[in-house]
Amino acid sequence: MYQQFWSWLLYLVGLTMQVFWNCDYNDKVTAGSLNKTQYSGKWYFIMIAADSDSSLLKFGAMDSAVFLLTPMKAEGKLLLQGEFRLSKTTNCLFRQWTYYISNQTQEMILEGRPEQRTEIFVKGGDDYIMLLEVQEEGLETFKRLMLYGRSPTLTDGLRLDFEHRAHCMNLTSIFVLKQAQAPCEIS
Ligand SMILES: *[C@@H]1O[C@H](CO)[C@@H](O)[C@H](O)[C@H]1NC(C)=O
Ligand SMILES: *[C@@H]1O[C@H](CO)[C@@H](O)[C@H](O)[C@H]1NC(C)=O
Ligand SMILES: *[C@@H]1O[C@H](CO)[C@@H](O)[C@H](O)[C@H]1NC(C)=O
Repeated sequence: MYQQFWSWLLYLVGLTMQVFWNCDYNDKVTAGSLNKTQYSGKWYFIMIAADSDSSLLKFGAMDSAVFLLTPMKAEGKLLLQGEFRLSKTTNCLFRQWTYYISNQTQEMILEGRPEQRTEIFVKGGDDYIMLLEVQEEGLETFKRLMLYGRSPTLTDGLRLDFEHRAHCMNLTSIFVLKQAQAPCEIS
């Protein structure tokens, strides 16, 4: 009886692991097909995964970050504005970027950074978006996956899902924003 129970339990654990470690995520969105109305507006930066701890250094000082994504009049361009709260200060730091949607690669390219490409993944309908930033050439090379949510809350399930996804991309260094202070305002 005891033996039977254990083999049954091991079977269940194995089954769960198999499902858990399946890396077939089919939620990449081609940049040209991104619904700009659906995904525009305010996003909270929740967590990031990268290929090394050193790639995460510049994110470590960040307490929270909010972003505003706005389609621009010129087709194929998106404006991304961010307000960052650093852990050691109470000020907000403003930055903005322009993304170009490349018809050839179906990825997004940041203005002034042609070596960097950004892939888009969505999760949970309109509630989460993930950006994979890759730069394979130049002085700085990196690969990092960022999770943004309509709400700043990180649940255990969401964290596990994101970490597993990152693991599938060989991104094993993880940083979760503390969000200890109130986020900056953005509008
Ligand atoms: C894009 O998103 C908006 C808002 O969610 C929705 O009303 C619209 O139908 C969507 N367009 C397409 C082509 O799916
Ligand atoms: C990309 O395709 C869209 C729609 O077909 C077009 O309006 C736009 O001009 C194209 N952009 C470039 C850079 O070729
Ligand atoms: C992850 O790393 C392994 C071993 O270095 C490699 O075989 C695999 O192709 C990598 N996967 C990705 C998605 O980069």
